[in-house]
Amino acid sequence: MDSLTRESVASALGAHPWAQSILVVPETGSTNTALKQMAAHGAPSGTVLIADRQTSGRGRLGRSFDSPAGMGLYLSLLLRPEIDAAAIPHATLRAGLAAADAVEAIAGVRPGIKWPNDLVMQRQKLCGILAETGMGAGSRIDWLVIGIGINCNQMEADFPPELREMATSLRRCGYPIERTALAAELIRQLTALQADLADPSRYLPRYAASCITLHQDVQLLQGGTATPAYALGIAPDGGLMVQLRDGTKQVVGSGEVSVRGLYGYVK
Ligand code: BTN
Repeated sequence: MDSLTRESVASALGAHPWAQSILVVPETGSTNTALKQMAAHGAPSGTVLIADRQTSGRGRLGRSFDSPAGMGLYLSLLLRPEIDAAAIPHATLRAGLAAADAVEAIAGVRPGIKWPNDLVMQRQKLCGILAETGMGAGSRIDWLVIGIGINCNQMEADFPPELREMATSLRRCGYPIERTALAAELIRQLTALQADLADPSRYLPRYAASCITLHQDVQLLQGGTATPAYALGIAPDGGLMVQLRDGTKQVVGSGEVSVRGLYGYVK
């Protein structure tokens, strides 16, 4: 089992502005929750919190994120970008692209991105991302915590029975990696995120090229109803542009709807 330590991640990262603000803990409830508390107490931009295990890992839309010891990379990054709340969806999308780039650099295989930001490999979920913010004055944000969970070492039996069909890991897909190397590369890839939030045109074309949701039939899931639609593209605000069966086009936001392919998690 590969072991994650502050020293090993900082050494793999080398000279980097955030190398001295990396914390690695054996266990916490949720790295996002802990880092949000640190943000409220003034922790600086660039603080990274990694846990070997989360006892209450959290996902988007109030879901949980299974986070057993030694199996995944559970990492949260605190930033204090000078952006308006309207730019928040870009944090989620850009983090998905950073995670895809990091996996490709370390594992040699590129996952797809299921809008807004799940990473998918062999049609199963490899990684989830949860971005949370605290507001400052007016519509400016005070802090942004981006939490990324990448399944690394699980084999099928390591997932709870209800996740075995839909979740996978790099090892299960045939790409074993060292979590230390992946953590360092992920931190490296996240470095460009802040600049890209200020100018999303810098990353959106590359995001769209990796987004497997596009040019597919999808279902928009909202409040117990499923609306069939076709995914046309990514809107400048990071929303998903869709065409409904009656020909109407609309942009849906990641907080409003969940998207499924027509035949399960991806398709
Ligand atoms: C999702 O799949 O809906 C998002 C999952 C996000 C999981 C990561 S693991 C690190 C960070 N801490 C958490 O509690 N959640 C995120």
